[in-house]
Amino acid sequence: MVLKSAGSATRSRKPAVEPATELAAQLGRRLVGQPDAIRQIIPYVQMFQAGLAPEGRPAGVFLLLGPTGTGKTRTVEALAEVLHGSEKCLLKIDCGEYQMDHEVAKLIGAPPGYLGHRETVPMLTQQKLNAVTSERCALSLVLFDEIEKAAPSLTRLLLGVLDRATLRLGDNTTVNFENSLIFLTSNLGAREMMKELRPDFGFRADAPRTDLAGKLEAIGLHAVRRRFSPEFVNRIDAVITYRPLDAASLAAILDQQIADLQRLVDTRLGENRFRIQVSEQAREFLLRVGTSAEYGARELRRTVHRYLTQPLAALVAEGGVPRGGQVHVLVGDDGQGLALRASAAEETPAQAPVVLLVEDNRELLRYLETCMGQAGWQLLAAESARQAYKEIGERMPDAALLDYRLPDGNGLELAVELRRRDAHAPIIIMTGMELAPEEEAVCEEYDFAVLRKPFRAADMVSLLRARLNQPCEACA
Ligand SMILES: Nc1ncnc2c1ncn2[C@@H]1O[C@H](COP(=O)(O)OP(=O)(O)OP(=O)(O)O)[C@@H](O)[C@H]1O
Ligand SMILES: [Mg+2]
Repeated sequence: MVLKSAGSATRSRKPAVEPATELAAQLGRRLVGQPDAIRQIIPYVQMFQAGLAPEGRPAGVFLLLGPTGTGKTRTVEALAEVLHGSEKCLLKIDCGEYQMDHEVAKLIGAPPGYLGHRETVPMLTQQKLNAVTSERCALSLVLFDEIEKAAPSLTRLLLGVLDRATLRLGDNTTVNFENSLIFLTSNLGAREMMKELRPDFGFRADAPRTDLAGKLEAIGLHAVRRRFSPEFVNRIDAVITYRPLDAASLAAILDQQIADLQRLVDTRLGENRFRIQVSEQAREFLLRVGTSAEYGARELRRTVHRYLTQPLAALVAEGGVPRGGQVHVLVGDDGQGLALRASAAEETPAQAPVVLLVEDNRELLRYLETCMGQAGWQLLAAESARQAYKEIGERMPDAALLDYRLPDGNGLELAVELRRRDAHAPIIIMTGMELAPEEEAVCEEYDFAVLRKPFRAADMVSLLRARLNQPCEACA
């Protein structure tokens, strides 16, 4: 989801630098169990946002090392989601496709006059780099995945990119990487790391297990120094070694994937949506089959797909789930798979909806709070975007009333984040100014109602009531 709407007007209203804690929280919700990676990357994003990134160099260069399935590639996807609204907003080069020197021409294009010049559209052009930025953020993320597989000529090309932030293409034009964070991932040292992780598998059975992270880092760095020249290693801003994921992190990743599936059901099935209830035993089954010390969480998504998403799709296709009902996910009788049981919705006593109210004008906030309290809603109130993110981190509201202009951000971006988490919650944007046409388009696309200031409290209440499908009453 890319917030295309935020035009230059919006950008000028944004704070220059997002608070590190907010960025860390957003990244941490997507990347589990790797706090070092988050801690090392965020200062470079902030330096860029503050306009303090050094000139003539990429905004940051990171080498991500560590065992397979621990989140190296996921880190860059998650950052793309946080900065640009979509995990696809990054330029990814699979170095495995450039193992031979002649293949490297695919990256930069052949010089004019060479055979095949016209057929070789370079992978790394300025347009492609610009295409993975967004109105929200001008920083492009470039991922060279599995760098150790690349031909030596690619490493030489990269040296220039890391050093001067420029790449000369076959047609003699240049690409500028000053507005890029460059990520190199590698499995260098992974085999030695595996021996360290699974002593029964290798020869280090007697090794103490205490400083595992430090040991993996030393193994990774040693392997990197053996493979790459000192000039290359010196141009890397941070070498980050990923830890093997512990049981709690793997369980949290599974929770995320189940929540993703629930979101898909909510957004795709509309009125036919239902709740997925996965039992503890079923979670344990998915973790047992989908994770391992050797492959981390690499197989988890595929496992969830095979044992949960596919049977769920079959059940839906057969019309086996009542509208608004529930699907209970249990372990099958033979213990070899999962069993899905659909049921009608449970009757639960109606609870007062929780409404998030974000408004930096304290007086107006208090007044709206009173009106909303009288309407019978529970309130989460915030005076800034930062406070609002904290509130929604603790409790997701059923609806939101957001001021467009906030001291540390804008309500529209907050609204898009809320929509990402809940496909249906009614969201109203309050604004005293005209929205740009692109912003109006975003409101339409994500179904945000717009309330122009000044407005009558009664109008706000009846609009929210209508959107919450509550019977209308006169506002007090
Ligand atoms: N730390 C993590 N947080 C959230 N999800 C994760 C994490 N680690 C792995 N995953 C899940 O596992 C999948 C595979 O992880 P990822 O591709 O990032 O592994 P990797 O470390 O790059 O491994 P490889 O070295 O094999 O490329 C991800 O798409 C994601 O679903
Ligand atoms: Mg990877």
